[in-house]
Amino acid sequence: LDRWLINGNESATIPVDDRGFQYGDGLFETIAIRKGECRFMEAHLRRLAEGCRRLNIPVPRSELLLRDIQRATAGAAHGTAKIIITRGSGPRGYRPPPQAEPTRVVGFSATSIDNRIGGIRIRFCNTLIGRNRQLAGIKSLSRLEQVLARSEWNDADIEEGLMLNDKGEVVCGTMTNLFCTRDDVLLTPELSECGIRGVMREQTLVVAAALNIEVRETVISKRELLDVDDLFLTNSLTGAVSVAELDGHFYSPSAVTRKIRRGLCELGVEECAT
Ligand SMILES: Cc1ncc(COP(=O)(O)O)c(C=O)c1O
Repeated sequence: LDRWLINGNESATIPVDDRGFQYGDGLFETIAIRKGECRFMEAHLRRLAEGCRRLNIPVPRSELLLRDIQRATAGAAHGTAKIIITRGSGPRGYRPPPQAEPTRVVGFSATSIDNRIGGIRIRFCNTLIGRNRQLAGIKSLSRLEQVLARSEWNDADIEEGLMLNDKGEVVCGTMTNLFCTRDDVLLTPELSECGIRGVMREQTLVVAAALNIEVRETVISKRELLDVDDLFLTNSLTGAVSVAELDGHFYSPSAVTRKIRRGLCELGVEECAT
């Protein structure tokens, strides 16, 4: 049940000379639709705009994006909306054409709500995530590292894999941001060199600040990670999901994690209801 709009027209076909297709020259957002509304839409639009500025792609007008999403969802109360912005079509070669007209793609899928109260099993991936300050934080289309990492396992009971950089620092999951708690402090990898600044990560930090929970955005080595009280993973579509097992280590949610999940639930993240 997928519906796509390209530049406002119902279509699911991109021309082969689109630079998003040719080079991954663009950005995307994945947005939870809950009770007929785009959850945390301002934060998604802010990250998209920041990505466009960094890649020097004109920022799409939010009225257009909202109108497209409204048309694509066609009144559905729950599901997943996706925005893809590419630099548009161009001639052969990497050089961005000065007159490029961005391509605006909006889609909707009628997905159901995920509520993993029991926690999930995760693993470490061997695929490394590259460090590049120019691309760190933004949600660019180039996701080959995540594709390779996610192809490392087929066990349906393992729901996510953690990715490290070449310095052995834990950065994120293939499709999630990582948090852990130790002695009532909330720790999360700092993302100045790699990773995506997740919208749910940002909301988690907002909740932590409101609850006066001490937060450290810091470097977390693989060894340090096995020494924490617990871990959870964030994503716009799933909220904050506790990790029950990581490579044979078992965890249960700490008091801090339970407070964060309650706080997110109060912000409309119903996936965090217990
Ligand atoms: C690599 C990566 N990191 C983090 C996230 C989480 O971002 P958000 O909270 O905005 O969904 C995603 C989401 O798809 C992702 O693909």
